[in-house]
Amino acid sequence: MRTTENIVSYKGKKKIICLTAYNYLFAKLIDQTELVDVILVGDSMNEVLFGERNTTTISLDVMIWCARSVRKAVKNSMVVFDMPFGTFHTKDAALQNVVRIIKETDVDAVKIEGGKDKTEIIDAIVKIGIPVMGHIGLLPQRVRITGYRKQGKTEESAKSIIDDAKAVEEAGAFSVVLEAVDEKLAEKITQSIKIPTIGIASGEKCDGKIAVLEDILGITQPPPKHIKPYDNLAERIIEAVKKYATENGNK
Ligand code: KIV
Repeated sequence: MRTTENIVSYKGKKKIICLTAYNYLFAKLIDQTELVDVILVGDSMNEVLFGERNTTTISLDVMIWCARSVRKAVKNSMVVFDMPFGTFHTKDAALQNVVRIIKETDVDAVKIEGGKDKTEIIDAIVKIGIPVMGHIGLLPQRVRITGYRKQGKTEESAKSIIDDAKAVEEAGAFSVVLEAVDEKLAEKITQSIKIPTIGIASGEKCDGKIAVLEDILGITQPPPKHIKPYDNLAERIIEAVKKYATENGNK
């Protein structure tokens, strides 16, 4: 079973491999590889599984139910729970929701979107004994303001993201996701903080990478433009279902 100490110790030694999983079935398959360091029960499930147009409408109840099933399946990876929109807008709300998440799912850590503005909350969660993964750069929970643009392209926004990384580290996060951060900036941040950076759409120079499992399997509909698929499961499922239907009398 990977621990936060393991993840931190991998910085500079090996790439940290992270994938999302939203249910028992897929989490069990991923975990059997013993090659995935972190499984994130991501709020991206709202788009990928449930067809919503962004992550903000998912409920904590749904995510807790999914995380329980992932927890049951996983023996090797660290399981991280992505705190959904509206569950950590104040310190009290965050603490109350983290306690509920831990009691009902027994996950290993939580992930929080936000930088400087979330340090008090990260610190409070760590102080009650729950590890926190930070998430800076593009914040999908703020899509109404930011859109899905690459982050850190101007001097001002680059400085702000560097400040976020340092603030999150200081607040006690054990790692930080860099989403859609300019590649050179992601490299600079990776070199300037002690905790591992986990990149998504942020180039190759982070300490680790995170991807949505369904994207790399080639099953997400429509397929995302910037992710390399490692299979074409969507086509293979359609073919298998057609074969089943025709073989069983629907010609
Ligand atoms: O919800 C999610 O899947 C995420 C990752 C893509 C970082 O936050």
